[in-house]
Amino acid sequence: MTGSTELEGLADDLLLRIRSRTGAAVTVRSLVRRFRTDESSVMSALRLVRDWGYGLRLNRSDVTFVSAPDILSATEITHGLKTKKFARTVFAYQSVKSTNDLAAQAAADGAPQGAVVVAEEQSQGRGRFGRVWHSPPESGVCMSIILRPDFQPSRAPAVSIMTALALAETLEVFVPGKVQIKWPNDVLVSGKKIAGILTELTADQNRIEYLIVGVGINVNQKTGDFPEELRGIATSLRRATGKKQRRVRLLQRFLVDLEKEYRRYQRSFLKPSRKRLRGYSSLIGHDVSLAVGRRISSGRAVDIDDNGCLVIDTANGLKAISSGEVTVVKQ
Ligand code: BTN
Repeated sequence: MTGSTELEGLADDLLLRIRSRTGAAVTVRSLVRRFRTDESSVMSALRLVRDWGYGLRLNRSDVTFVSAPDILSATEITHGLKTKKFARTVFAYQSVKSTNDLAAQAAADGAPQGAVVVAEEQSQGRGRFGRVWHSPPESGVCMSIILRPDFQPSRAPAVSIMTALALAETLEVFVPGKVQIKWPNDVLVSGKKIAGILTELTADQNRIEYLIVGVGINVNQKTGDFPEELRGIATSLRRATGKKQRRVRLLQRFLVDLEKEYRRYQRSFLKPSRKRLRGYSSLIGHDVSLAVGRRISSGRAVDIDDNGCLVIDTANGLKAISSGEVTVVKQ
C-alpha cells in the first residue's frame, strides 16, 4: 500500500501516461506493469486523479482520460507549455495572502529566473498605490514571476509596461473587444480594467537581485463578483466574451508572450516595442492630468518614449513622466 505522498506521485505519473493517450483506453494491467506497483495502488491513485477534478472513464480493467479541470496546478500549467525557460518551476497554492510575497521569499531562497508562483485565491492581494487587488477563489489568474535580469536597476521600472504589452497581446487573442494599455500598466478591455501589474524590485545601486512581476487577470468573474465600487470600471474575460474561459490556456499563452517580450527587452529595451505600445495606449491623444507626488501636471498625452515614460504636452513644453496615476480629463 502506498503512503499519501507516494500515492500522489503515482497519481501524477498515471495522469501523464493516460493523458498521452487521450480518448484511448489504457489497461490497468499495463499501468501496474509499467509503474511496478499493484492493482489496488493503481486504482487508489486513479481515484485520486478523479478527486483532483480530471474526467476519467474508469472500470476495473481500464481507464480512459476524458478531460482536464481548469485548475492552476503545476501539472496543468506545465502540461504542453511552450515556453523555453518561464514556468519550468511552478509553486502552486490554493490560498495565499499575496503571490508577490511568496515569490519574493522564493527568490530570496534561490528560486531561478522564470519561476512562477500562482494561487487560486489571495486574501491580501496587493495593487499599486497600496490598493487591494480582489482575487476571489478560482475565478481569476493571480501569478508572480521571478526575473533575474542582468541589466541596470534603472531599467527595472519599464518592466511593468513591457509586461502590460505582452498581456495586451495575449488578451487580444481571447477577446473581441478593444484591448488597451492605460499607462503605465493597467490593461483594459472595452475601456474597463481587466488586469493589473505590480512589479517589485530588490536591488543594490548597480545590480538587480530579483524582480517580482505580479499579474492579476480577471477571468471568470461575473458582474456580482466585483465589489460594488468596481462594477462600472472593471471587467473580466467572461464579461467581455459572454462565456467562461479556461484560465490555464490564458496563462500558458501569456507566459509564452511574456517570455518573448522579455527577451526582446533584455536585448533592446523598449525600442522595438514603442510602436506597439503607442498603438495600445488609451491615453495618447487625450488631455490628461497626472499626480506626481503632490504635484499635478496637465496636458495632452502625445507619446511613450524609449524609456517607457508618458510624454505630455503641457503649457510649459513637453514633459516625460516616469510614473504616477493618470486621469483622462473629460471635455
Ligand atoms: C494594480 O492594478 O494595482 C496591480 C494589481 C496586481 C495584482 C497582482 S495579483 C498577483 C500579484 N500578487 C499581488 O498581491 N498582487 C499582484
